[in-house]
Amino acid sequence: MMQDLSRFVQPGRVHRQIYTDPAIFELEMQRIFGVAWIYVGHESQVKQPGDYVRSFIGRKPVVLVRDEEGQIRVIHNQCAHRGSMVVANDKGNAGEFQCCYHGWTYHLDGRLKAVPLQHGYPRDFDPKNPRTAMVQAPRVASYRGFVFASEAPDGPSLEDFLGYMTTSLDDMVDRAPEGEIEAAGGVFRHAYDGNWKLYLENLCDAAHPWFTHRSSIDAAQRQSDDAFSDGSGEIAIRQMRQNGAPYSFWESQVGIWTYPNGHSYLGDYHDDAKLVAALKDPLFRQYIAALEGKKGKQETRRILEVRRWNSNVYPNLSFMSQFQQLRVVHPLAVDRTVVCTYNFRLKGAPEQLFRNTISFANTVNGTGSLVLTDDLEIYNRIGMGLSSAGAEWIEVGRGLQSDLPDAHGGRRGANSTSEIYIRNMLDAWLRYMSNGRAQSALQ
Ligand code: FES
Ligand SMILES: [Fe+2]
Repeated sequence: MMQDLSRFVQPGRVHRQIYTDPAIFELEMQRIFGVAWIYVGHESQVKQPGDYVRSFIGRKPVVLVRDEEGQIRVIHNQCAHRGSMVVANDKGNAGEFQCCYHGWTYHLDGRLKAVPLQHGYPRDFDPKNPRTAMVQAPRVASYRGFVFASEAPDGPSLEDFLGYMTTSLDDMVDRAPEGEIEAAGGVFRHAYDGNWKLYLENLCDAAHPWFTHRSSIDAAQRQSDDAFSDGSGEIAIRQMRQNGAPYSFWESQVGIWTYPNGHSYLGDYHDDAKLVAALKDPLFRQYIAALEGKKGKQETRRILEVRRWNSNVYPNLSFMSQFQQLRVVHPLAVDRTVVCTYNFRLKGAPEQLFRNTISFANTVNGTGSLVLTDDLEIYNRIGMGLSSAGAEWIEVGRGLQSDLPDAHGGRRGANSTSEIYIRNMLDAWLRYMSNGRAQSALQ
């Protein structure tokens, strides 16, 4: 079966097995998560030497840590003695890492530091032998503070891997008057009983809000504008109302763009008055003044004219630069996935802007959100649907005949309802899974 993965992916359709087969999932962990650049965290989460956060490369637990010299490392969170996970706290500051089973102690770069009862080990036991260390990821690189790691010792550089998607990460950072962002406000974690691929497939799906989020659209449309005259609930209500924009809007006003390696972004679907760049809003005026003060009028205009909704960096990252949200996908099993959402503060911006970021997160990413819970229900239903034999093929052909080349080396949908972004991810999937040998099957 594994010799011929291309039979699972055909123009405009994909076999359900790639979402349900444990053997394919195992191969994905090796050939996709074991090779690609995987987002592991942000430099602002490890500001000081000794700061660390736990993360994952695929299913592999890792620690993102700033060592004594200030260098950022990603080390496998596994003790070289009998294999226990060493770091159990989600984050913290430490001078060293100590395994709580037999007390082996490690330097912040993973080298072994001390071993209780060392005299009891064989005479050739050498604590300096790399085999006794917590293993470092072979490649770690940052792009403007976003830290990625790759388990492959060689391959494309992080910037080559990201390609044009660097502009979405730039957008996230450029919006900070002081040119820096910091992760703040904790993390939302949610899990669903479905395959990891479903998450990114949903985040740029312009055709689903009208149906999936109907209940919150209806409730928001019933609210009068007076309901948020004091500012409370405004972001939530506006967001939910806009999810109910008619198809004619999605087909004329919003675009979808895709790039090599499975990446994509959806155009913004809010205008000035509705949500993000609320240009007439006093708070936003204050923010613009701060931005202009640091960057000048022309650069400020350029920055604010970049309007993107979700940007997806395949295989595990989705972020929303205008509202400084970032979600990381952690596959646990073929039918179980965890997603963590982080919020970022724009340095130099009014503090209320960060509060809006949190409000937005509560609206769309929080576990009590009236929007996210709809999507979780969908993932669970897809998981249930696909795991039963019946229709063997999934249709992802919407827009296939009308996809267009993009000016920056990618391809785009004729409008935002094209499923081109799914075909683009499946194209990357097939290339990774065939060790780069596959021809493009989909475009
Ligand atoms: S397993 Fe870590 S010290 Fe024994
Ligand atoms: Fe949704």
